[in-house]
Amino acid sequence: MAIFTFDTSHVLGKVRAVDTRRVDVQVNTDEDLRKARVGQLIAIALPGAIEEWLIGVIDRVVKTPIQGEPPDQNFESDEGMDGVALPRESVLNTVRITLVGTVGLTSDNNPRFSRSLVQVPEIDGACHVLRDAQLQTFMALLSAEGKTEHSLEIGRYTIDEKAAAYLDGNKFFQRHASLLGSTGSGKSWTVAAILEQAAKLPSSNLIVFDLHGEYRELSYARHLRIPGPEELGKADDSLLFLPYWLLNAEELQAMFIDRSEFSAHNQVMAFQDIVVAEKKKTLESMKKTDVLNAFTLDSPVPFAIGNVIADLKRMNEEMVPGARGEKQGPFYGQFSRLLVRLNSKVTDKRYGFLFQAPAVAHEYKAMASMVGQLMDYSVSKAQIKVIDFSEVPADILPVIVGLVARIIYQVQFWTDRNNRKPMALVCDEAHMYLPKKDGKNPVEQRAIENFEKIAKEGRKYGVALLIVSQRPCDVSPTILSQCNNVVSLRLTNGDDQATVKRLMPENLEGLMDTLPILDIGEALVVGDAVLLPSRIRIHPPKEKPLSATIDFWDEWTKAPDKPDFAKSVENMRRQNRS
Ligand SMILES: Nc1ncnc2c1ncn2[C@@H]1O[C@H](COP(=O)(O)OP(=O)(O)OP(=O)(O)O)[C@@H](O)[C@H]1O
Ligand SMILES: [Mg+2]
Repeated sequence: MAIFTFDTSHVLGKVRAVDTRRVDVQVNTDEDLRKARVGQLIAIALPGAIEEWLIGVIDRVVKTPIQGEPPDQNFESDEGMDGVALPRESVLNTVRITLVGTVGLTSDNNPRFSRSLVQVPEIDGACHVLRDAQLQTFMALLSAEGKTEHSLEIGRYTIDEKAAAYLDGNKFFQRHASLLGSTGSGKSWTVAAILEQAAKLPSSNLIVFDLHGEYRELSYARHLRIPGPEELGKADDSLLFLPYWLLNAEELQAMFIDRSEFSAHNQVMAFQDIVVAEKKKTLESMKKTDVLNAFTLDSPVPFAIGNVIADLKRMNEEMVPGARGEKQGPFYGQFSRLLVRLNSKVTDKRYGFLFQAPAVAHEYKAMASMVGQLMDYSVSKAQIKVIDFSEVPADILPVIVGLVARIIYQVQFWTDRNNRKPMALVCDEAHMYLPKKDGKNPVEQRAIENFEKIAKEGRKYGVALLIVSQRPCDVSPTILSQCNNVVSLRLTNGDDQATVKRLMPENLEGLMDTLPILDIGEALVVGDAVLLPSRIRIHPPKEKPLSATIDFWDEWTKAPDKPDFAKSVENMRRQNRS
């Protein structure tokens, strides 16, 4: 049985030049050239007894004028040597193709697509466009090949809407992925479409960092919220308190120490010494001998911040005996500003999720139950966990997101290999906490370091990242470049396009040029999770994220209602919308 049967209407032209994956096809007439569209698939027959076809994607369509002058070097020998006459018009039509794989027959005579290229095409080999029935045959093959027990259906191919497009769920998460696209291009919907599929698996394990509360209504997910000022003191399963003692030394410093102060060094030393002493006290009182032997400043052990403040205050005011009566102690006055910062953060309600957690959250065993909130996947609705960070003040958002990611990674690291369940962190709006500018801001630096570690080493411990951003050129390149699969929705900004082009492993300039003209919800998917770099129309999720798209004109068309600005102003003062 023939895999493809082509007639003259499918003929595009003949192979003129081959350079590994690149093939130049010479097209004789304008009529034939009209069959070629960038992104379209073509097939080139390989010589031999068994039916075998090379499959390629049209990357460029080039017309070169050759009026009277000797033709382009590559084609100089055209006339005499191999007998192919140049077209009578003085224009040379070339279609550049990138080969993407081979279709052949298996030993039991079934057609099969593979990404490997067994052979290069012959010069003069006929090139056919895949369309109509032939295209459907191929796409069905692709679909069948892509559909395995570990595949997730994310949409349909743009070139053939009948063919379902699958992602290899193993490969997609194995080595990190990124989901990029301008605002409103459909990233959050795509995230929801993937979550929806993952939620159907009995023990999937995904954590979504939700910065705007967009995913808070998904019915299949467990919802956790970093508590806002009005929720402090409540011990509720859906509230995720992050007691300050979870912060490691660098994160604490990023929050409290102003490195531009001349006494910064002394502040760091004193602060660290006192914190270590306080942690030690806790462990001693609990008789945790083995922890005592190994713990460091960074260990997540509860301590009383009140004692730290009191100690710093004492040192800041200390008078010591001198030659003529009392004199100022060695640290006198050096911690004044640190104390102001500490006091203001500790009492500020916006930071309440760190410093004003209910007493149970400060117990030694509280961390284990917090980790359970974050990482458990064994009970119903716990497979997808959505953490709502919308109440976290912007100045410390990177530290807090980084803290959660670090805790997850470290717990995973220290879990016995046989008990580790692989998990994925979905980082929506990643440019907000994983920015490119390096070294400037210590708060952002901490988050970036935590995530970079996961990007580099997470694979070994089963922690995957899905980086979602509308500003790829503002996201840490170290992290983005670790993403092996790229799903790019429409990108209008030139810098962002350039960033994405650099990430795409395959040489598909023509396909990349479609980035700005993609439809909403349409994506270019490249990487080892798809059989072909393809344009895919993503299925809208059944349950939609709360879209922030506001219909301005419709809103303005409505009859006015009575606005209550006094209430809004009061909400602003109370830090509470309810
Ligand atoms: N797959 C899709 N099919 C059809 N429409 C879609 C699809 N994805 C998104 N849309 C439309 O686009 C709108 C914006 O989508 P979405 O909220 O996912 O954008 P976004 O890329 O996350 O934007 P932002 O960067 O601002 O968060 C949706 O409200 C929906 O109307
Ligand atoms: Mg979004």
